[in-house]
Amino acid sequence: MPSVPKRASKRVHSDPSTPELLLDYAPARQAARPRSLADEQGGLKLSIGPQAVPARSSHPSRDHSVERDLPPPPLAPLAPPLPLPALADELASFREFGQATRKLVTTFPGADGQPREVPTFVNEFWTARQRQASSLQEISYRACFKPQLPRFFIERLTQPGEVVYDPFMGRGTTVLEAALLGRVPCGCDINPLSVVLTRPRLQPPSLAAVAQRLGQIDFASSNEFPGELLVFFHADTLRAIASLKQYLLARRAAKSLDDVDDWICLLALNRLTGHSSGFFSVYTLPPNQAVSVKSQRKINADRNQTPPPRDVRAIILKKTRILLRDCDPATLRVLANVAPKAVLLTEPAAHTPELPARSVSLVVTSPPFLNVVDYATDNWLRCWFLGLDAKSVKLTVPRKLDAWQAAMTEVFRELHRVLKPGGYIAFEVGEVHAGKTKLEEAVLPCGVAVGLEPELVLINDQEFTKTANCWGVDNMAKGTNTNRIVLFRRPKDARQD
Ligand SMILES: C[S@@+](CC[C@H](N)C(=O)[O-])C[C@H]1O[C@@H](n2cnc3c(N)ncnc32)[C@H](O)[C@@H]1O
Repeated sequence: MPSVPKRASKRVHSDPSTPELLLDYAPARQAARPRSLADEQGGLKLSIGPQAVPARSSHPSRDHSVERDLPPPPLAPLAPPLPLPALADELASFREFGQATRKLVTTFPGADGQPREVPTFVNEFWTARQRQASSLQEISYRACFKPQLPRFFIERLTQPGEVVYDPFMGRGTTVLEAALLGRVPCGCDINPLSVVLTRPRLQPPSLAAVAQRLGQIDFASSNEFPGELLVFFHADTLRAIASLKQYLLARRAAKSLDDVDDWICLLALNRLTGHSSGFFSVYTLPPNQAVSVKSQRKINADRNQTPPPRDVRAIILKKTRILLRDCDPATLRVLANVAPKAVLLTEPAAHTPELPARSVSLVVTSPPFLNVVDYATDNWLRCWFLGLDAKSVKLTVPRKLDAWQAAMTEVFRELHRVLKPGGYIAFEVGEVHAGKTKLEEAVLPCGVAVGLEPELVLINDQEFTKTANCWGVDNMAKGTNTNRIVLFRRPKDARQD
């Protein structure tokens, strides 16, 4: 494994400041505002009259009261980049949560057919006992990882101002964590919901701006009333939701959606259906797994429930307060520095021509696995709210290992292109087939096939003490609460793009 120079101080890496000196990434098409669903769905039509709401303005929506007297964000360059840490050494001696690291070896077939070995480190590298992640991360999404995972790699393998990318960004965990750490966030997902969920949290509006806008929206104006949704919502609530949908679509069609609208859209999506009075719906599954009308009818009958009226405005405001809890002035300054440089794409991870070659310092990602995810079934209600056709979204969900490997190889080819020489990919693969299929072994040849160098495998086991005895190269079956991350590096002397 190529050695990595020692890092001078871990503390400096945690400092979320943004040296302009290091920002060498500014795709012309995207500089002012990350591309979003709002831009892509400009053709959606719904005619209602002009709204008494301001169009996108410079920043008044972000006039967080706490922020008012602050000096402008620092523009002066900070110190030059520090050398990166010897990550393998750090992992080997890691004892932050009381356990010693177990050192194993992961074996995979090399290009010449001979077995190749990669050092593998098992420990509780991040844990629920750590300080909670930022409140801004509190958005649900199917198969998301904890913010501590990307943070672990971002802090150790990048400097503030460098580009961190997630080609399967989901709810945007990596992208937001990168921004919170003063890195330039970059993400892609084939699911159009992904940008809707991610972008507003990169530069959140103030509570006052959200409250003001909610006060300006007419929640009784809808000329759409989909009666079949009355199994989820009280009639008054449904009218309010449909009115909000209509308002957002009209603003989108007029190209006048602003940051506050985007935030309200995100919050409405997040609060649409759920299992408590904090959601618009009567009791149902969590918001990332909408059930069908038929199933909801059964849930209502079984629980002897009818949808109660809910105050859509109040619910959006309450969740806004929760999400903004950790948005102190320093955090907002860091986000304001990097968010305008963010690039968020809705397209296949294997084809991202918008991203310049050799521009990304670190990829932290988790691909779709071998399980069956029916996008349209999970997302039909959220897509209805956004005016999208859920069936038009085609996720990569190969069920056979070789098809999955072929798909991942194409993604690695693209990641190799966008990575800077010397840049890293932390590729998290989950447990599938109850641990019988070791995706970390399956993914290693995919990266190697496109010229990436496998550095190490990191296994985070949050129940390490309980499962310690089962750890071994051939026995991963019981490690259910684990993340397995394969770390690749683009060699410094990489071939031409
Ligand atoms: C395991 S989830 C990632 C979750 C993410 N790490 C988070 O914390 O939210 C995998 C993601 O891959 C996306 N996806 C599936 N096929 C894709 C493709 N071909 N290109 C880009 N994204 C894809 C899915 O929409 C899903 O959001």
